[in-house]
Amino acid sequence: MKELFVGIMSGTSLDGIDAVLVDFSAERPAQLAHAHQPYASTLRDELTALCASGPDEIHRSQRAAIALAHMSAELVSGLLAAAGLSAADVSAIGCHGQTVRHMPDAGYTLQINAPSLLAELTGIAVVADFRTRDIAAGGQGAPLVPAFHAHVFSDATRSRVVLNIGGMANVTLLAPGEPVRGFDCGPGNVLMDGWIARARGLPYDADGAWAATGKVDLRLLDGLLSHPFFARQPPKSCGREQFNLDWLDSLLSGNERAEAVQATLAELSAVSVCQALASAGFSADEIAVCGGGALNTHLVRRLQVHTRTQVVSTAQWGVAPDSVESLAFAWLARRTLRGEAGNVADVTGARGARILGAVWPA
Ligand SMILES: Nc1ncnc2c1ncn2[C@@H]1O[C@H](COP(=O)(O)OP(=O)(O)OP(=O)(O)O)[C@@H](O)[C@H]1O
Ligand SMILES: [Mg+2]
Repeated sequence: MKELFVGIMSGTSLDGIDAVLVDFSAERPAQLAHAHQPYASTLRDELTALCASGPDEIHRSQRAAIALAHMSAELVSGLLAAAGLSAADVSAIGCHGQTVRHMPDAGYTLQINAPSLLAELTGIAVVADFRTRDIAAGGQGAPLVPAFHAHVFSDATRSRVVLNIGGMANVTLLAPGEPVRGFDCGPGNVLMDGWIARARGLPYDADGAWAATGKVDLRLLDGLLSHPFFARQPPKSCGREQFNLDWLDSLLSGNERAEAVQATLAELSAVSVCQALASAGFSADEIAVCGGGALNTHLVRRLQVHTRTQVVSTAQWGVAPDSVESLAFAWLARRTLRGEAGNVADVTGARGARILGAVWPA
């Protein structure tokens, strides 16, 4: 008997929505279909604007949430068609929503989402609002993926690091017989995306090809690495609140070559991850990368230079790098329906294990 779930993720890169259809009936999750829908530029601009305060933002955020629900419902119907299934076959959709504020120290995080509408449009139960319970329990509400990473990537003999490079970067540390650890490391793609958008009007630096033409500016790199977030001990999580172009601008002299800035931002993403692993005192036998940053060959090469550990794609561990995060939210939705905790309290800093999110019945 199949146990089918959909996971829907839209991360801090604001690139679009990833959706996956997965069967959890076997020991390992079996991915039946995956789809990615990029945001139209108008929606992307609106979501970007909603990440900062602005006029009429309550109304605008709800309009955007409705647009996201319609996009998500289209993706779900595409997944079902691709797999030859119907809505009645699916137990639930785990839908993360689009983060527009992540302020755990102020006691909240906000993902815009319209789970009632998504349930109406799809006829499938929706599980959403995954992060707020962990924050209510004193945690960061992030990262939430380590429990899933542990479930699929733990190895009986080798110490592994799972490195997700989305808008932000986060790691999960998996050592045989030890508790799962994990934390956000800092910016993944967000600054590189922002810089190439401003300098060249492109959404991202494909393969890191532009960064590869620049020379790292060590003065700038030092300035970037002096952000207090990097020195903070876990539990910790970050967002566009900390890492954004205004912060980058405050450290630029104005004389840098544009490609040198891009090279330095790629170097920042690579170096900050390696420093975080070193300060966690974790010695990994292998590192696997997932998220869109896994496709940035320049960045992966720089990671390989800075760490003495072999860096591979999670594809080599059996899960396509662009599906890991959406699979995690399908898995977290299943945990919620089963009354099982989804957070790892040692990772988020919550007072204990908590069942995450709420259910909007079909
Ligand atoms: N071919 C590529 N070369 C370089 N970078 C790429 C490529 N494809 C995607 N990316 C990068 O990956 C980003 C999207 O990654 P992803 O969807 O994992 O991030 P996200 O939505 O922020 O996810 P999350 O916050 O859940 O980790 C893009 O914004 C871009 O920077
Ligand atoms: Mg994304």
